[in-house]
Amino acid sequence: MVLEVVMDLMQPHLMASIVNDGVMRGNLGHIGMTSIWMLVAAILGTVGGMGCTYYAIRASVGFGTDLRNALFRQVQTFSFRELDRFPGGTLVTRLTNDVMQVQMLIQIFLRMLIRSSFLFFGSIVMALLISPKLSIVFAVTLPLMFLLLYLLLSRSIPMYRNLQGKLDRVNSVLQENLTGIRVVKAFVRATFERSRFKKANEDNYELGLKAARLLAVNNPAMTLLLNASVVCILWIGGAQSWEGALEIGSLAAFITYVIQTMNAMVSLGNTLVNISRAKASSDRVNELLEAPVSMEESPVENHHTTPAPGRVEFRNVSFGYEEGGEEPVLKDIGFAIEPGQTVGILGSTGAGKSTLVNLIPRLYDPTEGAVLVNGVDVRDIPLEELRGQVGIVLQQAILFSGTIRDNIRYGKPDASQEEVEAAARAAEAHDFIAAFPEGYDTVIGQRGVTLSGGQKQRISIARALLTDPAVLILDDSTSAVDLRTEARIRSALKARMAGCTCFIIAQRISSVAEADRILVLEDGRIVASGSHEELMASSDIYRDICESQLGLEEASHV
Ligand code: GTP
Ligand code: MG
Repeated sequence: MVLEVVMDLMQPHLMASIVNDGVMRGNLGHIGMTSIWMLVAAILGTVGGMGCTYYAIRASVGFGTDLRNALFRQVQTFSFRELDRFPGGTLVTRLTNDVMQVQMLIQIFLRMLIRSSFLFFGSIVMALLISPKLSIVFAVTLPLMFLLLYLLLSRSIPMYRNLQGKLDRVNSVLQENLTGIRVVKAFVRATFERSRFKKANEDNYELGLKAARLLAVNNPAMTLLLNASVVCILWIGGAQSWEGALEIGSLAAFITYVIQTMNAMVSLGNTLVNISRAKASSDRVNELLEAPVSMEESPVENHHTTPAPGRVEFRNVSFGYEEGGEEPVLKDIGFAIEPGQTVGILGSTGAGKSTLVNLIPRLYDPTEGAVLVNGVDVRDIPLEELRGQVGIVLQQAILFSGTIRDNIRYGKPDASQEEVEAAARAAEAHDFIAAFPEGYDTVIGQRGVTLSGGQKQRISIARALLTDPAVLILDDSTSAVDLRTEARIRSALKARMAGCTCFIIAQRISSVAEADRILVLEDGRIVASGSHEELMASSDIYRDICESQLGLEEASHV
């Protein structure tokens, strides 16, 4: 960059020399020599410019890549709480568009900003060297230019910041639409969505146009100022030259320097506008990078390893999603499950069943009380170890694009085909997988779109079983599976997971009736607890649920 700028600054100087010493004195040799020097300077300048562009692009692209990596790493450390705060859509926008903006900024910064400032100061210095007297023109034009630029920037910067917000809006409408396109189609809302998108898009357009108009007014104003100062210089400088105080070539060079100074200022102004635009993006990137991760690993000296098989205890646990906010979702939950027991959890929707089991692998931390696995507070167990011992099948079956085999061995990538098959058999998934022409090598689309709901659930169960966890949690994991298959899964599980502590959340009594212990949750509290027989005898709520599902007669026979 320095090479390019210095060569740019040399050109008018050499030009002046051609006019003053060559043309005016009829020295053809000097003209030839200097022309060659001008050519050399031009080539050197081009080489410098290309080098600068190459390295600026390299640096900015590298920066963008590093930044995306850093953001991705950061997102991986997020607990569920942060993931709730930054939903998928904004994460995608931040990792792509915003990083891109910042990357552009770095590039502009490295090329335009540095170049313009060098040219600006360099041209002023060269002009001063030619004629300090004429340079008085700067004293008038520069403040005027600063004023003009200030007016421009102070109005356009907020506009551009706003523009970034509009663009966000376009992005989020688009994002939402693409993820929900099936719902949009099913409800025939395409026209509505189209107008929503059009609105966001047009808002963006209008503001963009307004900002561009402002910039458009700016350029002629700058040109006017430029031409006015050239006239001034010719007027004063022409007189000086007449008197022999200033050579004609120097006057021409001086004018070129003034033009360069002003151009540099205009491009500085534009760069500042760009910087302000990218500022919004960099703020959003920083917000993500600096988001405090709420789930800290406890200090190593507190760590306990827990070899014993899964005993799970809740001690006066309360939990709320919003900190300090409304009524907690779980209230004063307390129970203890011995290793190898099976626990059924029943309760109406929204009672807090999923929330409760999510505390065991520490997807969230309780707001009060403690969750203990094998007698150790889960906060004192290294996360990786804890989650290695607790297998969870989340309520929403989520699969990755890839083969069925890779999906099942997601938690244990080195599992053999026999292990994968055994897990699939226990989850009653083997038969339908084997029926696919490509069996376990069948590639499933993004989020498992090519499978039915129940098939996805069974693959998620197999995935959890494969890691042979000490504690297994099934969160409504057979809701989309027919009753007979579900019964088969239950008996297969019993055989395979003997000695494993199981939590089974279900809507159907039949799914949990055989459990050693059933917890009935209502409004975040345990309202009944015991085996099916005990509860039938003692709990009205439980009897009600039973009767509503099975009929009185059958219920007493389960
Ligand atoms: P079903 O799965 O429908 O049977 O319900 P559930 O018993 O599993 O309820 P869950 O534990 O998912 O939710 C309990 C309460 O917490 C509900 O009132 C939800 O509105 C609330 N809730 C669940 N997830 C979130 C969350 O991520 N953020 C916030 N703020 N609230 C949540
Ligand atoms: Mg749930």
